[in-house]
Amino acid sequence: MDAIECLLTRRSVRKYLDIPVDWDKIGQILEAGRAAPCAGNLQNWKFIVVLDMEKRKKIAEASFHQFWMIKAPCHIVILAEPEASKRNYGMRGERLYAIQNCAAVAENMLLAAHAQGLGGCWVGAFDEEAVRAVLGIIAEARPQIIITIGYPDEKPIAPPKLKLENVVYLERWWARIKDVDEYMGNTSAKVMRTMNRGKEIIDKIDNKLRGKQ
Ligand SMILES: Cc1cc2nc3c(=O)[nH]c(=O)nc-3n(C[C@H](O)[C@H](O)[C@H](O)COP(=O)(O)O)c2cc1C
Repeated sequence: MDAIECLLTRRSVRKYLDIPVDWDKIGQILEAGRAAPCAGNLQNWKFIVVLDMEKRKKIAEASFHQFWMIKAPCHIVILAEPEASKRNYGMRGERLYAIQNCAAVAENMLLAAHAQGLGGCWVGAFDEEAVRAVLGIIAEARPQIIITIGYPDEKPIAPPKLKLENVVYLERWWARIKDVDEYMGNTSAKVMRTMNRGKEIIDKIDNKLRGKQ
């Protein structure tokens, strides 16, 4: 699949098959994270790969009891080292860039997982101190995002997303465009959206049939 299809068809996957993920695939996901853009190319981030079941249990507990996470054979904790951003860019670096860097890493990782037939979910709801304790994280590093990775045991239906005309303005605040794709001559996006809608209907039917078995 190409990049556009990959990012349009990615979904948050929270049910996983009981199959370990080979290192080769985890490696690609880590590489994708490493390739993310970051302010000043500081790369002030760390990624902790967690495969150990006991640790994954504790991470799920620390994530306000999101126990579905335990079934994901791999967790990747993305950490920021905000001090470097602060040194270079002051408060904006510390409070904004360090966080945005990790967000870019997370999306790259999720897309790399999806491109390889894996599923993943971005987990932001966790107790930072509890996660620190489980993984022995030093005070200078801040756990920002946990990515769960595994082979999907569900085909999630796309949650409702706002239409382009609700989120795109042209040239100035609130200057809406009635049909953004039409205006931009953006036919491939239209075709892709229609195709994805078709796929979603098939997935819905598939999910229903599975439920009946
Ligand atoms: C900042 C952030 C925090 C999130 N935290 C959680 C979380 O703690 N648990 C969870 O199940 N999903 C979490 N998600 C995933 C969202 O629920 C999901 O992306 C959203 O519902 C849209 O679905 P989609 O990813 O399939 O497009 C988080 C996503 C983001 C970007």
